[in-house]
Amino acid sequence: MRLKVITSNRGKVKEYQELFKGSNVSIEHFSVSYDEIQSYWLEDVVKKGISDLRAKGLTDFLIDDSGMFIDALNGFPGVYSAYVQKTIGNKGILRLMENVENRRASFGCSIGCYIGKETFIVTGKCSGFIFQTEKGTGGFGYDPIFSPDGKKSFAEMSVGEKNVVSHRGSAVKLLSKELIDREILNVKN
Ligand code: IMP
Repeated sequence: MRLKVITSNRGKVKEYQELFKGSNVSIEHFSVSYDEIQSYWLEDVVKKGISDLRAKGLTDFLIDDSGMFIDALNGFPGVYSAYVQKTIGNKGILRLMENVENRRASFGCSIGCYIGKETFIVTGKCSGFIFQTEKGTGGFGYDPIFSPDGKKSFAEMSVGEKNVVSHRGSAVKLLSKELIDREILNVKN
């Protein structure tokens, strides 16, 4: 079965391809715009996205809304993560974090999946730390400044390594459980 990952972010597509590798679900990159509302809750953004895409007649698709939340900045950039990445970027975040001792942060990822005429919404989280400088060249977005364990940044990990610990990886684990229960997903050994 084919599952369209609707996003303009190729980095996310690579991660989904790796996450569904060895299963009966093949991931296809699909680009179409949909309503991305501004909400405090990632789940609300994917809910609205799903209804918008269903209204356009799309089936068997997945969308993903993610954000990074920095404790010392009261959760900023959070729902503004995309805008902040585009405007001040990782360097701007590091400037805001200069002389800030508490480096704790987390990533959240909500997946909305409409497959086999059913809707699934799951959310995964990954706690970690903001580094003092950018590290690594892999991944995308905030990957060079975020580390789950304070040792390696996401950008220093392979896609497979990141998926084991990431917010997206943990959301996909929850989604997979639901899809396996409904016999939509089979994982080949
Ligand atoms: P969105 O889910 O595409 O709206 O992502 C919001 C912002 O967070 C964008 O700037 C993404 O590049 C960034 N982002 C989302 N997921 C990740 C991730 O796994 N690592 C690093 N940055 C991410």
